[in-house]
Amino acid sequence: MSQTEKRNQPIGIFDSGVGGLTVAREIMRQMPDERLIYFGDTARVPYGGKSRETVLRYARQITRFLISRDVKAVVVACNTATAFALEDLQKEFDLPVIGVIHPGAEAAAAATKNGRVGVIGTQGTIGSGIYEAVLGQLDPAISVFGKACPLLCPLVEEGWLDDPITIEVIHRYLAELKKQDVDTLVLGCTHYPLLRHQMEREMGPEVALINPAYETAVTCKRVLMQHRLLCDTPAITGEDADRYCFTVSDDPQHLQRFAESVLRTEVGPAEKIDIEQY
Ligand code: DGL
Repeated sequence: MSQTEKRNQPIGIFDSGVGGLTVAREIMRQMPDERLIYFGDTARVPYGGKSRETVLRYARQITRFLISRDVKAVVVACNTATAFALEDLQKEFDLPVIGVIHPGAEAAAAATKNGRVGVIGTQGTIGSGIYEAVLGQLDPAISVFGKACPLLCPLVEEGWLDDPITIEVIHRYLAELKKQDVDTLVLGCTHYPLLRHQMEREMGPEVALINPAYETAVTCKRVLMQHRLLCDTPAITGEDADRYCFTVSDDPQHLQRFAESVLRTEVGPAEKIDIEQY
């Protein structure tokens, strides 16, 4: 494939479920000409309580699937998969692979004034200690307070965003971090930006909430530029319906409905993939 043909290939994005749509949304905003193929591993969500070995196996399968669809780069739009698999994917596959943790950590290091940063995520992400490691490299004076919030991802997948149960669960999880006087809170799971307003209310206006999606899209654009892979064919609104393609490992309608509400636009039917084949 020539470099020009390659540039116009889609970016592959994946998550355990619908959370990565928050990253896809930001990539669409910052790079409106790009084509995307999204994979939500809805048959195997959540990843948060699974072992490194299992998440790595899933991430390899999904990357092989995305490569079979000729993607030019892969965005791991999942903190858990980034924590457990990013380095291996970058070594094993011959295309740019971008994660969500470094971009989010950089934004948090820039935002904190008192050097006390809270991070919420899955058990896998928090247990891996990756945010402590990355933030420690960026600024050793920063203290990191991690809190695993395993109930939040299933509540988001269920669509219970404004439900009193979800609000109560958020209240309980965040109480500990409020006591630690953090002035910055990293939403270290791509599902959590869908609960942003509820978390803002809980933490109060003096705490900066970091959604790594914005910085991940900035990083993605920079990496594509470095590899001379930025799309050079402007999208024609309304005439390029296939620009965004959604794939899942389970019920396609669930993801389609969610994608339409997160992206605030109509999307075509999602395609079900037998991911174990890859
Ligand atoms: N959205 C994912 C993350 O950022 C995974 C959540 C889960 O599957 O437990 O970690």
